[in-house]
Amino acid sequence: MERFRVVGGSSLRGSIRVSGAKNSALKLMAAALLAEGRTTLYDVPSITDVEYMTELLRRLGAEVERDGTTVTIDVPAKIGHAAPYELVRRLRASICVLGPLLTRCGAADVALPGGDAIGSRGLDMHMSGLVKLGAEVGVEHGFVVARAPDGLTGANIWLDFPSVGATENILMAAVLAKGTTVIDNAAREPEIVDICHMLIDMGARIEGMGTSTLHVEGVEQMRPTEHVTVPDRIVTGTWSIAAAMTRGDVTITNGKAEHLEIVLDTLTAAGAEVHTEPDGLRVAMSERPTSVDVVTLPYPGFPTDLQPMIIALNAIADGTAMITENVYEARFMFVNELARLGAEIRVDGHHAIVRGRPTLSGAPVVTTDIRAGAGLVLAGLVAEGETLVSAVHHIDRGYPDLVGQLRRLGAAVVREPDPDRFDD
Ligand code: EPU
Repeated sequence: MERFRVVGGSSLRGSIRVSGAKNSALKLMAAALLAEGRTTLYDVPSITDVEYMTELLRRLGAEVERDGTTVTIDVPAKIGHAAPYELVRRLRASICVLGPLLTRCGAADVALPGGDAIGSRGLDMHMSGLVKLGAEVGVEHGFVVARAPDGLTGANIWLDFPSVGATENILMAAVLAKGTTVIDNAAREPEIVDICHMLIDMGARIEGMGTSTLHVEGVEQMRPTEHVTVPDRIVTGTWSIAAAMTRGDVTITNGKAEHLEIVLDTLTAAGAEVHTEPDGLRVAMSERPTSVDVVTLPYPGFPTDLQPMIIALNAIADGTAMITENVYEARFMFVNELARLGAEIRVDGHHAIVRGRPTLSGAPVVTTDIRAGAGLVLAGLVAEGETLVSAVHHIDRGYPDLVGQLRRLGAAVVREPDPDRFDD
C-alpha cells in the first residue's frame, strides 16, 4: 500500500496536458468487441482501470497490446461471453461489456459489480433496456445473465434517469439489432458523444448524439476502426479547481472548456480568472475564493465527479456554501475525512453546508474512491503542514501520474510506502 505525503502551501503554476477520459476509454475498449479485427485507440490514459479492462478483454478472447497511450485490440471472430466476478469487482465499468457481448454473441454473463463507496449503483435500467430489445435478462448466482439467441430487435426505450452506463449499454446493443431503436432521456455526456463517433466510424447509424434522444438504425455488421479518446473533463476540472484553490496559475492543454461550462462559471463566481486558449484553458486566482453553491446533475449540469473537489474549495472559501448531491446517495461519506483537516461541513440528506475557514490543518486521511481522493489531495495542498493521504490505489484508477504532475506544477508531494496500511 502507498500513500501521498502532501505539504500544503504551494501555489500551482505551469502547464500540464490532460489525457483521454477514463470514462470514455473504458467504454471505447468495450465497443471494440463489436467488430472482428484490429481496433486502435489513442490517448488512452495510463491508469489502473485501463489495466483491468485490458485483462477483461483478454479473458473474453481479444488480444490487447498497450504502447504508452495507444491500445490495439484484436478481436477474433468468436469471443467469449462471460465476465467473471474476480475481474468485474475491481472495475464497475466492466458492466459496459454487457451490451456488446449480448448483441455479438447472443449471450452475456456478466458478474454483478455491486455497490461501492459512493452509492448503490443499480443496473435496472441497463437490464430493462435490453429486455425491451428482446433479450431475456435475469440475475443468477451473482451474474447478469442475458440471452438473445435470435438477435435483438429495435425498440423505443425511455430511461427514468439519464444514466450514462445504461445509455451506453443499450446503444452498443442497438447498433447490431434489427430495425430502429430510440433511446429517450438518454445521457448527453461528452463521453457518450465520443462513443457515438467511434460507433459511427465502425459502421453504426446513429442520430441525435449529444441530445437526449438517440436514434439507432441497426446494421448487419460493424468494422474495426481507429479513434482518439475525448480529453478527460473531470481531470481538467480537477486541475482547474486546484489552480483556483491554491491561488495559482495553470494552463491545461488538451482540456476542453466547452465540456466544463458550469464548472468554469462556478470558478469564475468564486473569483478565478478563466481564459479559453486554442488548445485548452488557463485558470488563475490570486485571492481567497468566495463560497459557491453547487448542485450536481447529469451533463450539462455540474458533474458529481467534481463534487469532492468543489467541497474542498468551499472548505477554505470566504462564506458558506450549500452543495446538493443528486446522483449518488453516499458521495458525502468522504466529508468525515475532510473534517480531519478542520473543514466545517454539516451533511443533511443530499445537502452539505460548508462553512469556509481561512485555513485547514494537515492530518492523516484515507480515501475511499477516486474523486474523494482527488478532493483530499486538493485540500492537503492548501492545509498548513503535512497531509498523509492513504489508499491511493483508488486515485491511481483515474488520475495518470497525479504526483508527478503536481510536482511539475510546484507542489510539495511525494508518493511513499504506507507502513500503517495493509488493506483497504
Ligand atoms: N442508476 C440506477 N439504475 C441504473 C443505472 C443507474 O439506479 O440502471 C443510478 C445509479 O445508482 C446512480 C445514478 O443512477 O445513482 C447515475 O448512474 P449512471 O448510470 O449515470 O453512472 P455510471 O454509468 O454508473 C458513470 C461514471 C461515473 C460518473 C457517472 C455519472 C463510468 C465508468 N463511470 O457511472 O464516474 O459518476 O457516470 O456521471 O463512466 C468516476 O469516474 O469516479 C465515476 C464514478
